[in-house]
Amino acid sequence: MQPARTCLAIILAAGEGTRMKSARPKVLHEMAGRSLLGHALAAVSAAGADALVVVIGPDRPDVVAEVRKLAPHAEIAVQAERKGTAHAVLAARESLAAGHDDVLVAFADTPLVRPETFADMRRALHRGAGVAALGFEARDPTGYGRFVTRGGQLDAIVEHKDADAATRAITLCNAGLMALEGKRALAILDAIGNANAQNEYYLTDAVEVARAQGLATVALIAPEAEVQGINDRAQLAGAEADFQKRRRLEAMAAGATLIAPETVFFSHDTRIGRDVLIEPNVVFGPGVTVADGAVIHAFSHLEGAKVGPGATIGPYARLRPGADLAKGVKIGNFVEIKAATIGAGAKVNHLTYIGDAEIGAAANIGAGTITCNYDGFFKSKTIIGEGAFIGSNSALVAPLTIGAGAYVGSGSVITRDVAADALAVARGRQVEREGWAAAFRATAKARKAAL
Ligand code: UD1
Ligand code: MG
Repeated sequence: MQPARTCLAIILAAGEGTRMKSARPKVLHEMAGRSLLGHALAAVSAAGADALVVVIGPDRPDVVAEVRKLAPHAEIAVQAERKGTAHAVLAARESLAAGHDDVLVAFADTPLVRPETFADMRRALHRGAGVAALGFEARDPTGYGRFVTRGGQLDAIVEHKDADAATRAITLCNAGLMALEGKRALAILDAIGNANAQNEYYLTDAVEVARAQGLATVALIAPEAEVQGINDRAQLAGAEADFQKRRRLEAMAAGATLIAPETVFFSHDTRIGRDVLIEPNVVFGPGVTVADGAVIHAFSHLEGAKVGPGATIGPYARLRPGADLAKGVKIGNFVEIKAATIGAGAKVNHLTYIGDAEIGAAANIGAGTITCNYDGFFKSKTIIGEGAFIGSNSALVAPLTIGAGAYVGSGSVITRDVAADALAVARGRQVEREGWAAAFRATAKARKAAL
């Protein structure tokens, strides 16, 4: 086995993204429940980057906070002035000087690049390239840097603004991402000048500089969809659509049935087991795991939830963060579950809210049951034992414990603990007056006739 090579990834995240028309910087906008920056961090990490630097613009505490949250070990470098992509990369000078084996440069606004693509770029370095650049065949090359190639070799990247008519006719374009041989990276970057149409330090010039230094330079090609950058909200929606397409195919390839895949929406981290059936119009927020054999009926919304093997959800169910369903649980229509564990085989079939609760195995929660978990100030817990039976339309006022096997009569408002195997009824007692209705009708009719 080859000794593991160290890898530094530098993520350029300095752009404000004014075309988003947003109070938030572009790289904090989300796709599939994760920020664009988060996608870039995840991809380079999955490609084996063991050191990370995120280059940001000045005064961006929000971007700093996101980096701290998602990658606490990452360095943050500030590019005080925008003087070009090579200048931005050099904001990570200290880390570059540490002499990692591989250096990857990624853009934080290009969230669909797969880890495999970054790994391919590293592999090009391992095969002896000094610089590997990622390109794509552009439907419309306007604005992009053009790849000037000869044989398999990448001769130069020429920016659109610096290109003559012949070069502008080239459709093989630069995606912007690059891999540099780590021990040479600093020498290459430091040799880049700014004598061009924009007086910027272009990272793309690394190709010509590396060749002048006697290094090999190669072009790798990715599909255009994978390297699309986000500049406005329409492009964000387009990237989201492509991501969803990719995830639906992955879920099906892994053994899930999606009846109408185009109506199912996943998050970046949704985990779906085998033989799971997902009906139309289901939305997965972040943090959902669905075990083998579960069924998610139509129009359900899940977030931060665990669905056990063979469990059934919906139609029209909502699982909120902390919903933890064991094997064979049944959650029916118009049921909301939040921060609650539901034991194996328990049933919560209709029109119910269960929040801050522990429900024992095989318990049956009747239609219209509400755990009253909030008094306006504090949340309190409801514990329901195994095999308990909660009659329909009951209000369970927490904190509350209902023992195993206990019954609660329908329509009860339960405020005190119920012992195991007991019956608790808390509602007006039924009274019946024989013949009352007939007598009432007779009197009323007579009064009306006398008018
Ligand atoms: C860049 C490439 C171009 C490629 C295109 C792909 C260069 C010189 N050109 O052009 O060949 O076809 O991307 O989309 O690299 N950034 C900084 N600081 C700067 C300048 C840029 O952090 O001083 C960041 C931006 O926030 C962005 C990325 O680098 O994330 C690319 O910059 P951008 O201005 O969009 O470059 P393009 O002109 O699109
Ligand atoms: Mg750009």
